[in-house]
Amino acid sequence: MDMSNLHATHHFDVIIVGSGGAGLSLALSLPAHFKIAVLAKSALTDASTFYAQGGVAAVLDETDSIQQHIDDTMIAGAHLCELNAVQQTVEGGKPSVDFLLEHGVQFTLDEQEQLHLTREGGHSQRRIIHAADATGRAISTTLVQRAREKQNIQIFENFVAIDLITTQKLGQTGDNRALGLYALDENTDQIDTFLAPFTALACGGAMKAYLYTSNPDIATGDGIAMAYRAGCRVANMEFNQFHPTCLYHPQARSFLITEAMRGEGAYLRLPDGERFMLRFDERAELAPRDIVARAIDFEIKRLGIRHVWLDITHKPAEFVKEHFPTLYARLLELGIDITKDMIPVVPAAHYTCGGVVVDEHSQTDIAGLYAIGETSYTGLHGANRMASNSLLECFVYGMSAAEHIQAEFKPDYQSPNVPAWDDSQVTHPDEDVVILQNWDELRATMWNYVGIVRTTKRLQRALHRIEMLKREITEYYQDYKVSKNLIELRNLVLVSEMIVRCAMQRKESRGLHYTLDYPELADELRKTVLTPPNFQVETPLVNEDVPA
Ligand code: FAD
Ligand code: SIN
Repeated sequence: MDMSNLHATHHFDVIIVGSGGAGLSLALSLPAHFKIAVLAKSALTDASTFYAQGGVAAVLDETDSIQQHIDDTMIAGAHLCELNAVQQTVEGGKPSVDFLLEHGVQFTLDEQEQLHLTREGGHSQRRIIHAADATGRAISTTLVQRAREKQNIQIFENFVAIDLITTQKLGQTGDNRALGLYALDENTDQIDTFLAPFTALACGGAMKAYLYTSNPDIATGDGIAMAYRAGCRVANMEFNQFHPTCLYHPQARSFLITEAMRGEGAYLRLPDGERFMLRFDERAELAPRDIVARAIDFEIKRLGIRHVWLDITHKPAEFVKEHFPTLYARLLELGIDITKDMIPVVPAAHYTCGGVVVDEHSQTDIAGLYAIGETSYTGLHGANRMASNSLLECFVYGMSAAEHIQAEFKPDYQSPNVPAWDDSQVTHPDEDVVILQNWDELRATMWNYVGIVRTTKRLQRALHRIEMLKREITEYYQDYKVSKNLIELRNLVLVSEMIVRCAMQRKESRGLHYTLDYPELADELRKTVLTPPNFQVETPLVNEDVPA
């Protein structure tokens, strides 16, 4: 039977992979005459965006300034941030807030009916707008609703993008250009072809590479892996942010306790009650995340304890319930009354600071291909992302990509002929336990050898194991029909390899990359760039040097 008959082909002006803040801000910023596809691996709200608690950083208060937000970002990023990206993002704060308000996102207001501003680590000012402690839910549900209302946006839920289609892959000469992608339709188990002059990867981050993470299951680095395989450079993958305070509880894995709780005065304590952060940094609980996570990791290892405590019991109960209603209710279900009890917390992998190298319009090394949000490397975060800067980055760069696409759009564009996905040579897998086994092994390897504190020996061990796993997964991928789990595992093993290779290249301790073998800062400021073998750009889009 000719399987290609079952593979549908869809034609659009813009294909957006991802329904988080990045993907939807692009979709909603394009004009109504654009025919847009939005693909999501599962439900539209199943994205990191939905789970954001703290908020969105923006300079709104008259005592604050763009320069202070820039300075705070540069300091948190250990001066590895690229100044032009920081400037663009920070200046995009107010327009991003306006975009969200225009679409109807309801943020928490203060007594004067102005946006209430909270504070988080690294910020010298109150500048985080939020919807109580469930900001992501408010943003995600509102933007999803707006996207569903638009006639020109077609939504494809449970579609898993597998790989990009490029002119290079079709053997065409000249500049490499994105033509679209193949995606597994989980509803029918068939693989469809999506074609368009513009494709945007807004697939979120890759922190499912680690055993313990705050991220939802979708965060398997698909966008970064797809872009790299297609010929895009990827940068700074060694900088994985560990959020200091995830709940330590057998029934609640991946549950974050927002940094805004420390912003509103919560203390970190050891079992004997000591407020230990004072020993590590004069900013104490509000030091940047890398410092707080490392201090917790140090104390946990020093004392042989399973977690430390987060304590907000000294604040009035009404204040706590008003500011953290979601956390209060959720933790009460687990038997923890945060107005009276301290919260057991540990660090967990939280944010991918590196990603696909893009310019100020989110344009990658491949013409017609964009990367936005956590999938991208814009230069904003440097060696450590400052809290609540990432949602802002999604909106600023989503809107900027929309402008660029409009400028580049040619109404007479004709999609070339592209062959349908060929799975005539593969069979159904004999046993899926192989995927489960490799998945567990990979994530444990990353957690144990490529975690908060690294050594060269641990990285070498990790690389050795990852290379073996990659060989096995590649063979499996070539022989058997693809499934969502297999697609994700294939991406995750590649992204894990990138993390380790970048970490091995960085011979210093900076921001989130801390190695016992090189505990000092290097004199030179440079990003770590991985160039794929099929890279095809004569003049790189982005300057390789990071301005001091
Ligand atoms: P996501 O929101 O993760 O969306 C990714 C999308 O891509 C999903 O729709 C997914 O289905 C889709 N996708 C992925 N792969 C594929 C594929 N192969 N095929 C089809 N679809 C695919 N940042 C802040 O600034 N402030 C905060 O307060 C904050 N709190 C956070 C709290 C938590 C618990 C977490 C996990 C993160 C938090 N962050 C916060 C970080 C921030 O939420 C993320 O960086 C941001 O939401 C990423 O948005 P995104 O659009 O890039 O990706
Ligand atoms: C949090 O609420 O602590 C998360 C904020 C962020 O990751 O930016």
